[in-house]
Amino acid sequence: MNPIERPRRLRRDGLRQLVSENELAASDLIAPVFVDATTDERVEIETMPGHERVPIEESVARVEEVLETGVEAVMLFGIPESKDEHGSRAWAEDGVVQEATRRITSETDATVITDVCLCEYTEHGHCGVLEDDAADDPRLTVKNDETLDLLRKISVSHAEAGAEMVAPSGMMDGMVGAIREALDDAGYADVPIMSYAAKYESAFYGPFRDAADGAPSFGNRRHYQMDPANSREALREVELDVEQGADVLMVKPALPYLDIVRDIREEFDHPVAAYNVSGEYAMLHAASEKGWLDLQETALESLLSIKRAGADLILTYFAEDIADELA
Ligand code: PBG
Repeated sequence: MNPIERPRRLRRDGLRQLVSENELAASDLIAPVFVDATTDERVEIETMPGHERVPIEESVARVEEVLETGVEAVMLFGIPESKDEHGSRAWAEDGVVQEATRRITSETDATVITDVCLCEYTEHGHCGVLEDDAADDPRLTVKNDETLDLLRKISVSHAEAGAEMVAPSGMMDGMVGAIREALDDAGYADVPIMSYAAKYESAFYGPFRDAADGAPSFGNRRHYQMDPANSREALREVELDVEQGADVLMVKPALPYLDIVRDIREEFDHPVAAYNVSGEYAMLHAASEKGWLDLQETALESLLSIKRAGADLILTYFAEDIADELA
């Protein structure tokens, strides 16, 4: 038997690269950065090896490290000096993200994207204004429309500080429309919104909740984040965000939801982002520490698979390591 079709012909070095369909580039990657107003020195994040919470004074130095690898964009998360019922430090002019954003945008060329949410700022750790008696009644959690007013204020305060894009992650209904209107009214019609459009209620966020100190003190986020069983609902969520003016559509987490990335890629023409979350990072680190996996190789393969599924940009804790490797 002599097969005419021999796909192996193109797998030889040299030819293989010529016919490769997808490519990772440092310019597709966004590095999450944690700025912590409760500390005056860098603190390692135990659950996410290689990542730190840095004080505001170190935020520029931290972002310069990212830029040196070739990654040009960062996503800022803040840990405020104090928390309260409504998370008021989230929209304070001198809040941790606002302060870090001002410094980073004035002193570096990094593209600064900010996470717009309340869970790191509220004492109960939920992503918005609690219903009365929420702590005692598992059917209750966050009041949607009251929370929208706070998200408006947070987004405008980030834009005022110089954020180049805002990324609301709270999964409140109508959040993109509310934020778009608030930004436009405040004179920031040019600031785009990257919506965490299809954000699932995922156990893969575990290590992040340690990093950003944002675990809910009671209950869970099932009342607002999506059910992992659903895919049609993701398209509906995305469609609503598109109608409300979302500029970039994000899926989160990434690897367990590559089907969703693909579905959205096929249905919409907007840029699609995928968030390779803390648990996806921690898993590979834990296995590689045991000597069971090669960290760089598995990280590279994971990110490539996210691109292959259809993502244009990837938020990942591997950003710096992979950009170094690509360079
Ligand atoms: C909410 C937010 C979370 C993450 C990003 N933004 C936590 C959550 O929804 O519980 C998780 C990111 C990760 O796990 O890497 N502000």
